[in-house]
Amino acid sequence: MAVKFSLLLPLLLFFSVISAQTNEDPTTRTMEEFSGYPSEPHSCISDSLSLSVDKDSLQKQIDELSTFSDTPAPSVTRILYSDKDVIGRRYIKNIMGLSGLSIREDAVGNIFGRWEGSEAELPPVATGSHVDAIPYSGKYDGVVGVLGALEAINALKRSGFKPKRSLEVIMFTSEEPTRFGISCLGSRLMAGSEPLVRALKETVDGQNISFFDAARSAGYSKDQEDLSSVFMKKGSYSAFVELHIEQGPILEDEGVSIGIVTAIAAPASIKVDFEGNGGHAGAVLMPSRNDAGLAAAELALAVEKHVLDSGSVDTVGTVGILELHPGAINSIPSKSHLEIDTRDIDEKRRNTVIERIHQSAIAIAKNRRVKLSDFKIVNQDPPALSDKAVIKAMEFASQQLNLSHKLMISRAYHDSLFMARISPMGMIFIPCYKGYSHKPEEYSSIEDIANGVKVLAMTMAKLSLD
Ligand SMILES: *[C@@H]1O[C@H](CO)[C@@H](O)[C@H](O)[C@H]1NC(C)=O
Ligand SMILES: *[C@@H]1O[C@H](CO)[C@@H](O)[C@H](O)[C@H]1NC(C)=O
Ligand SMILES: [Zn+2]
Repeated sequence: MAVKFSLLLPLLLFFSVISAQTNEDPTTRTMEEFSGYPSEPHSCISDSLSLSVDKDSLQKQIDELSTFSDTPAPSVTRILYSDKDVIGRRYIKNIMGLSGLSIREDAVGNIFGRWEGSEAELPPVATGSHVDAIPYSGKYDGVVGVLGALEAINALKRSGFKPKRSLEVIMFTSEEPTRFGISCLGSRLMAGSEPLVRALKETVDGQNISFFDAARSAGYSKDQEDLSSVFMKKGSYSAFVELHIEQGPILEDEGVSIGIVTAIAAPASIKVDFEGNGGHAGAVLMPSRNDAGLAAAELALAVEKHVLDSGSVDTVGTVGILELHPGAINSIPSKSHLEIDTRDIDEKRRNTVIERIHQSAIAIAKNRRVKLSDFKIVNQDPPALSDKAVIKAMEFASQQLNLSHKLMISRAYHDSLFMARISPMGMIFIPCYKGYSHKPEEYSSIEDIANGVKVLAMTMAKLSLD
């Protein structure tokens, strides 16, 4: 890390206000080597690293993209491979073209726009997010991380910056699970999920349209059903940074401009079924009962206990579904069904909680003489930690730009969770109104967006020179 980070120093010196030195200064020459900037001290160096964001143009693009929607404004609905999604994709590719990026698309429609660096053989620095939108949602979720990233590229180009590693903007396919029930479809595949490749062969949407028919209707996956071409090797990127609205209230409440994400929590889901003999609520006396409902109640409290016992506020657990059968006031529950969501940023700690919940379920069934008829871990995505060097670069950028910032955890998950499997990862959060997301009231001011774009631009610039 130390070696890597030392390369950031030239940039720091170059951008700092006190860099008004002569052309003979050896430090300046070193900086030039790395940055590709001209050496005369600019008058604009003092104001935020001479990065200027074209706010009007960016806001106009966000507004325009939001009109490609299957529901009326202010709501946005843009479902994977729908006509509106295809138009949205065309819109993004057009902007990539105008920014002078070379464009590539993979078999599921992940879109890549690359600005080639002076050492193009090195793994690039990537950024990006998604533009699909769940029904009746807003226009900022994901979009800020795609259009904002393209504006970050434009700002760097205008400033005269020359990347060493190439910079790449990615628009991921289907971050939202709306159509096929699979979240982060594009990034999950890029990270090399074989189970997903197999599952997609059988996957249909609510209209019984297969994934592959849908993909073909949008111009993707033309030849065959082999999606392993989408996989990317670990190390394909030297870093990945995603800009995103917080989707929570913390930054707005605290008046902080930038959230630097240190970890992304990931959920595990568990389904549990208990079975007892049931019986008449009056006739069966208490000692002879084996009540499946009480077993479920006891397990729900055990979930809370195990989560609290972890000792970390980052461990959370929820019993969001608890169903009793037959569900009559005068009948002892003969069956119960629970669904448990538990999340953490520490995989080991979360898996310990799952194991304790399992032990409790077994013990409760034994003590209450009910049958534990099912205990199924439905999914168990590993959480991800941001990379230390990427965190440092984001902090450094925020400091240079004089923006208030704080380290925080992402409790929602993003394409970055999967990109972390193949690349060092980091995320930049910006405030959003009342933490609203996935509804039409979702809003971030263009000032907050522009701050995020600048931090992203400077972070990528630094990582590009690493
Ligand atoms: C869905 O489509 C498949 C293949 O066309 C067909 O065999 C199946 O019966 C359909 N299922 C439903 C529920 O319509
Ligand atoms: C950064 O903020 C400090 C304190 O708010 C202020 O004194 C300083 O001038 C600012 N620097 C820049 C470059 O904006
Ligand atoms: Zn999102």
